[in-house]
Amino acid sequence: MPSITVKLIKYLKGSIDIPGDKSITHRAMILSSLADGETLIKDFLKSEDCLNTLSALRLMGVEPIFQDKDLYISGVGLNGLREPKELINLGNSGTSMRLLLGFLSAQGFFTVLTGDDSLKSRPMKRVIEPLSLMGGKIYGRDDNNFAPLAVVGNPKLKGINYKAPLASAQVKSAVLLAGLYALVSTSYTEPIPSRDHSEKMLSYFGAEIKKEGLTTTIKKASYLRSPQVINIPRDISSASFFIVLATLISNSFLYIPNLGLNPNRTGILAVLSKMGASIEILNFHEECGEPVGDLKIIGSEKLKSVTLDYEIIPQIIDEIPIIALAACLAQGTTKITGASELRVKESDRIKTTVSELNKLGAKIKELEDGLLIEGVNFLVGNKVTSHGDHRIAMTLIIAGLVSRGETTVEDIECLNTSFPQFTKILFDLVQI
Ligand code: S3P
Repeated sequence: MPSITVKLIKYLKGSIDIPGDKSITHRAMILSSLADGETLIKDFLKSEDCLNTLSALRLMGVEPIFQDKDLYISGVGLNGLREPKELINLGNSGTSMRLLLGFLSAQGFFTVLTGDDSLKSRPMKRVIEPLSLMGGKIYGRDDNNFAPLAVVGNPKLKGINYKAPLASAQVKSAVLLAGLYALVSTSYTEPIPSRDHSEKMLSYFGAEIKKEGLTTTIKKASYLRSPQVINIPRDISSASFFIVLATLISNSFLYIPNLGLNPNRTGILAVLSKMGASIEILNFHEECGEPVGDLKIIGSEKLKSVTLDYEIIPQIIDEIPIIALAACLAQGTTKITGASELRVKESDRIKTTVSELNKLGAKIKELEDGLLIEGVNFLVGNKVTSHGDHRIAMTLIIAGLVSRGETTVEDIECLNTSFPQFTKILFDLVQI
């Protein structure tokens, strides 16, 4: 199993080009495939998760063409996909599985979805329940909760008014994608706002979709119109590891251009600023319906602790492990609650964050729905493992760069899930 050894760095100055946003890339590939016309997706993320969505679309008759950092997709239309002859294996990607369930439940054919051991243990009932209310026929293990999942497409879905019990952009997106096919309109109400990339991109493709407070309503569509070009902004979740690294090294300077700054994703910036970080947004503008801008980060002397509860959790859901690292080196005790969703991510991120950062001398206690982190003055290198979770791997590599001595992070192949270029970008920046 590949591993990496890193040591304490004292200096960081430079500019980095982060790869494209994972969530937006998935949506761009799906909607381009279902649209009429050809779409050029610029700077799409070529990571395992996104390639799994693309392979699934390919098995259903879509013929994507790669050209350097860009991808051309010639849409087959809303009803142009064909029954795959093979099982669709989505690897580690929860986003792929949940979003696919949405539109597959409305097709005139049969599909079977599966994934790796982690994906097969992630709850799918949360998506299957609303889709079943629409007339979707999805069957899985353990009372229709776990993959492998068999989908018997039903082209006669009906719209529902669904009140979601949890904040999940993946569940919301699945219902909205099914809503493209359902009579007459479908509305989805979430308890607190989650990322709205699907809503923005559906609208960009001409779907009739509107938002009123926490409720999104979509009308059945007869077709989607390709916008011809989609520019994928850089992924703020991938950038968050570098933002925290720069923040934790005093006198550092880091510039990150063209970052996606959707307000449902920028919680990390708000949290770090509250902790005392120096982060400035420049060149703020909109691209293809998404807010984008550059970030300038200057290292901070000492951060202070923070209290985070359920209201902000959807905005920082993927950044909590790296926020936990910042909190380890902050003054005071940080409390994070309302985050039980972390238990059903690529790993149980409450458990893996606690067990691995504590091996470096952190003082973190596991709460049922979060973390209690007592700040320490320094961390000390050790041998740690990612548990096969890409965001834990990146958190630990960054932790190694701010810990005394040497840190070996084991099982880092999972970096390919969302950020295959992570170590290259890091080594170009910090010259270890
Ligand atoms: C995602 C939504 C979030 C996030 C995941 C990507 C998306 O999951 O954790 O990495 O692209 O919609 P939930 O919607 O399950 O919270």
